[in-house]
Amino acid sequence: MSLTAQSSAVTARGFAKKNMRPMRVEYPLRVVLAYSGGLDTSVIITWLKKRYHCSVVAFCADLGQGEELSEIAQKARKTGADKVIVADLKATFAKEYLFPMLRANAVYEGSYLLGTAIARPLIAKAQMEVARAEKAGAVAHGATGKGNDQVRFELAYQAIDPAIKIIAPWREWEFASRSDLIDYAKRLSIPITATLKKPYSIDRNLFHTSYEGGILEDPWVCPPEEMYTQTVSPENAPDKSLVIEIAYEKGNPVSINGKHYSPAALILKLNQLGGAHGIGRVDLVENRYIGIKSRGVYETPGGTLLHAAHRAVESLTLDREVLRLRDGLIPYYASLVYNGYWFSPERELLQGLMDNAQKRVTGVARLKLYKGNVMVVGRKSPYSLYKKEVSSFDKDTMSIQKEAEGFIRMNALRLKILGSDGK
Ligand code: ARG
Repeated sequence: MSLTAQSSAVTARGFAKKNMRPMRVEYPLRVVLAYSGGLDTSVIITWLKKRYHCSVVAFCADLGQGEELSEIAQKARKTGADKVIVADLKATFAKEYLFPMLRANAVYEGSYLLGTAIARPLIAKAQMEVARAEKAGAVAHGATGKGNDQVRFELAYQAIDPAIKIIAPWREWEFASRSDLIDYAKRLSIPITATLKKPYSIDRNLFHTSYEGGILEDPWVCPPEEMYTQTVSPENAPDKSLVIEIAYEKGNPVSINGKHYSPAALILKLNQLGGAHGIGRVDLVENRYIGIKSRGVYETPGGTLLHAAHRAVESLTLDREVLRLRDGLIPYYASLVYNGYWFSPERELLQGLMDNAQKRVTGVARLKLYKGNVMVVGRKSPYSLYKKEVSSFDKDTMSIQKEAEGFIRMNALRLKILGSDGK
């Protein structure tokens, strides 16, 4: 590994690649790194300084990953960061990212509720604000060259400032594995906490915990029970069910059992309730944007409850054709989030449509939580389009049954013509 022999004409990205117009970087370069406190970003601080002769601002975003922020800041400084900036983004994350995504009922490939995907644009945006404030010419992240996160970060950076220089160490350095990183850290005395490596990679925020890689790379391997951190196993969930009520206003959940919560607090509360009943585990093989299949395991207890509750209130309040049209757009919206197009005109356009559909989505859903299952057991709304006098089997004040005959006959017309055509 020739990490020290650097030419002086370093460029911010693609410096070693052919067919790329290299951009010369002004010295001294200042780089804002999206820092997590893990091994990779700890090594990246030193690597950046050696490779780019730059100063490094470690930026850590608190999205509810449950790490102690003051400890992370200390760690970043010990590992060589020239400056550390921490930001508590939990409230913004819930209100401006999770809630809009939940209003759209976004689900990727049938079951992934997008907890990691939705976090990246916010981290990138906040990081770019730091870059501007610090007059930094470049941003860096610790995402690998095989995943979605590199795309999400970098699409967001460029949507925010097309001139920003991007450094993605995983695509640049020669390290191929975690042990390479540990060797490098040892060689350069980077104080990494030698935590016992979990046999899979974890990403956590206030919406979900995701697990992938390591032992999970065999899609036939059953995830070990001790892996889960937010949910009890359905087998160990209480034998007694729990019934809760979630109230919505214009598509946003606002209260649980009549008690009002801020967006972030509401999600945390529902995580706790759903987690205690083993709700929200998902195990799937998903298609990454770059064309690789990947096995992911997720825990999204609160999000799972919110999807069920939201659908229940929508079932009363949404017009049939609005529902059909909106549902047809969910896979596309979910792909935009998954693929990293949060800051894009098409996502914003779709969000407008999704939010417009939510004008009437005010009401309450009653859910029963029991051993890994969430069951809708009631719904009500002042905007309900469900009219008992119309729907009831008991009486037919509008003569619907009589009119139905003509409705069916007219709808059958073209089928009859086709059927008698003989060709
Ligand atoms: N596969 C998920 C996604 O692309 C999660 C990725 C990050 N998770 C992790 N454990 N490193 O959104």
